[in-house]
Amino acid sequence: MMTRKEIVALDKKLIWHPYTPMKKYIEEIDPVVVERAEGIYLYDMDGTRYVDGNASWWVNVLGHNHPRLMNALRAQTETLAHCSMAGMTHGPAVELADKLLPLCGESLNHIFFSDDGSTAVEVAVRMAYQYWQIKGRSQKRRFVTLKGAFHGETVGAASVSGGELFHKALGPLLFDRIILPSPIGIASRGAESGVSTQSGVGWFDEPFAAAKKILEEHADEVAAIIVEPLVQGAAGMLMYSPEYLSELRALCNDLDVLLIVDEVFVGYGRTGTFLAHHQAGIDADITCLAKGFSGGVLPMAATVACDRVFDAFLGGPDETLWYGHSFTGNPIGCAVALETLKVFDEENIIGGLGPKFDAMQRGLDSVKDHPWVRNPRRTGIITAFTLTSPQAGESASDYLDDAGWRFYVEARKRGALIRPMGNVVYFVLPLTITVEQIDSLFAIVRESLEATFGK
Ligand SMILES: Cc1ncc(COP(=O)(O)O)c(C=O)c1O
Repeated sequence: MMTRKEIVALDKKLIWHPYTPMKKYIEEIDPVVVERAEGIYLYDMDGTRYVDGNASWWVNVLGHNHPRLMNALRAQTETLAHCSMAGMTHGPAVELADKLLPLCGESLNHIFFSDDGSTAVEVAVRMAYQYWQIKGRSQKRRFVTLKGAFHGETVGAASVSGGELFHKALGPLLFDRIILPSPIGIASRGAESGVSTQSGVGWFDEPFAAAKKILEEHADEVAAIIVEPLVQGAAGMLMYSPEYLSELRALCNDLDVLLIVDEVFVGYGRTGTFLAHHQAGIDADITCLAKGFSGGVLPMAATVACDRVFDAFLGGPDETLWYGHSFTGNPIGCAVALETLKVFDEENIIGGLGPKFDAMQRGLDSVKDHPWVRNPRRTGIITAFTLTSPQAGESASDYLDDAGWRFYVEARKRGALIRPMGNVVYFVLPLTITVEQIDSLFAIVRESLEATFGK
């Protein structure tokens, strides 16, 4: 077996890490070398225990190595590890669909499996695009997105994203999209939204009026609008009111535009409801699920379509979705995803979230007066603040600001991995975390803030 030192040396020689400036990584970083994980913790080979503050890139909704998920995984490997879904099927896929679809919305009755959030979005884009061709309205081929939105890494998913930094290098490779103003509006009216799981959310009148005008102008050429409901994650945990989504749904109905709701990050209870957009009392036409979908255990995702979209594809070759990945509907993934739903159900995961949300709020309140902390915000378990020097008046999120990384170093010394997005510090913890664990995490946060920036 290799030693920790040997692993790090070979890693730096061989491995190209995601979202990592590799020169700095190779020259300066001593990476965490994860040996095992349990619950909210990751364990380094050197014995150090860390709180996994972002649930391993937002996937781990039920904590690491949840015994029921591990058992489901092991049991499935005894009989069938993989088979294709082209003209074939298997029990775990069908059982999963049967349990999941009633949670997605009234007419969302058709599920297409894929591998991750990006492919779930890619499928949604293909479905929406082809839907209008089948309907004989091929001029409806543009996509609309929100400023700052992040929908994934593949070229299609990147094209329907509305951020600049991540996809700048792709430039003209991306297809044309229309970008609406972000729904993060004037904060002062946010408190009136009355949504108990939220705080610090913005209001939406102005951005919605602008969105309406743009959509009305372009409706004849728009296939679909795609949104991250309630929280724009990668934009810097920007939170907005469910009313924006209700208004948007009504507008999509009026203008005959499909609504794609990307639940990849916020889905599976993180905002306090199983799917975030249900807080707006709406259903999507197409919903994308990933990350928490398999309890964060396996690369597994799904795109769920409503009857109207699916029915359009009931025809010949021109009405066929010529699309699919090798591991579509992988049986092990399906078995674990099914067990994830059972755990949500039988362990009353969502019903037990109230005290955890309160604890997150308590933690946030305990740091909100620190001179560097701006815009403390929370939707469900998703909690964030922005770090800005007391001299600067700004609180916008900035990916290239190093304030978050300076804080990260101090928090790591104290046993928490709180990977920031530039100057945005955020927490996306497994829903199985305990109130005591949240309280001790915020003790680390307070100490680390003080160690980084003073009192
Ligand atoms: C809202 C949203 N959609 C899609 C994706 C892409 O998911 P994946 O990284 O699994 O491809 C992400 C990733 O963070 C996301 O936050």
